[in-house]
Amino acid sequence: MKNLSENFYRLLHPKIVFLLTSVGKDGRINVMSCAWATPASEEPPKIIVCVSKEHYTTELILETGEFAINIPPKGMEKAIWICGSKSGRKTNKFKEAQLKIFKAEKISAPLVEGCIGFLECKVVSTIDAGECYAFLADVLNCKVEEKYFVKNLWKSDSVPMHLGGKKIVYF
Ligand SMILES: Cc1cc2nc3c(=O)[nH]c(=O)nc-3n(C[C@H](O)[C@H](O)[C@H](O)COP(=O)(O)O)c2cc1C
Repeated sequence: MKNLSENFYRLLHPKIVFLLTSVGKDGRINVMSCAWATPASEEPPKIIVCVSKEHYTTELILETGEFAINIPPKGMEKAIWICGSKSGRKTNKFKEAQLKIFKAEKISAPLVEGCIGFLECKVVSTIDAGECYAFLADVLNCKVEEKYFVKNLWKSDSVPMHLGGKKIVYF
C-alpha cells in the first residue's frame, strides 16, 4: 500500500463544491469556492465549514459569524475557478465571475443567483484546526431547487464534486 500522509484528505473526496458567501461588520461581502464542509448535527441542524486562516473569507466570518453555502449547478465551473483562485481582498469576485446576488432570509451575507441549494448559517463555535478554522454553525435556513433535488436526493449529474486540485466531476 502507498503511504499517503501528505494528501490524506483526498481519500475523503469527492466533495460537493459550493460558493461560500460572507459579510464583514461594515457590510463588505465576499465569495469563495469551498469543498470542506460536513453536516455536524441533524437536531439541532449544524454544519462545519473549514476555511484557511489566510483567506479574506475567514476575516469576514470572524467579524460577523455569518456565512451562506450556495450550491451551484452544472455550468458554473468558470465562476468556481475564479472564486477559488483569487482573493476578495484584491478582486471583486462577484463582478469578475458575473455573479448576481440577492438577500438571504436570516443572515446578512448574500446569496448567489443561479445556485440551486442554499444554507444560511451562523457560527456558534470556532475551532483552531491548524491551517484552517473549522466553523461550527447553526443552519438557520435551508432551501433547494426542487427540480434538482427529488425525494431528498440530488438528481444525478446536477452538482459539481471536487476531486481535489483542478478536478471537478459530476456524479
Ligand atoms: C474547487 C475548490 C474548492 C476549494 N475548497 C476550499 C476549502 O474547502 N477551504 C479553503 O480554505 N479553501 C478552499 N479553496 C480555495 C479558496 O477558494 C481560494 O483560496 C480563494 O481564493 C480564497 O478566497 P478569499 O481570500 O477571497 O476568501 C477551494 C478552491 C477550489 C477551486
